[in-house]
Amino acid sequence: MTRFTVNGNPVEYDLPPDTPLLWALRDASNLTGTKYGCGVGLCGACTVHVDGEAQRSCQVPIGDIEGTFVTTIEGLSPDSSHPVQRAWVAEQVPQCGYCQSGMVMAAAAFLKDTPDPTVEDISRGMTNLCRCGTYTRIRKAILRAAGGNGGGAGEDE
Ligand code: FES
Ligand code: FES
Repeated sequence: MTRFTVNGNPVEYDLPPDTPLLWALRDASNLTGTKYGCGVGLCGACTVHVDGEAQRSCQVPIGDIEGTFVTTIEGLSPDSSHPVQRAWVAEQVPQCGYCQSGMVMAAAAFLKDTPDPTVEDISRGMTNLCRCGTYTRIRKAILRAAGGNGGGAGEDE
């Protein structure tokens, strides 16, 4: 039995300890906002927070995170009011949307560590992939969430 906290709720998983966190969240907890993209730690579609740090949940065995606090997109805020979520709506970032839960979670963690980023900081720090190429709007939204209103992020794609 593996125990930790997800979005403020204690959970117990009767799953092998090498089960990826992604599948515990999606299949056992029905938290399907966290997406499966590549399964090998490259795309970031599965990004969640573990003790406040962005982690690619397809690469995190649940046995390694006993006692931690996990946050998924469903738990980032009670009413989609996190500054990153508000900025995402204002900049109309998503295209197909598949990568976007992971992007928002990565951006929230990035801004916690880098509250006043430059465009270059964002390009370096945001390593998640978007097959729709929404990177320009992602940069604008991160600047907006940081308080810069998205200016200077370049022309939209
Ligand atoms: S699904 Fe986890 S990094 Fe791509
Ligand atoms: S919005 Fe489609 S993959 Fe990013």
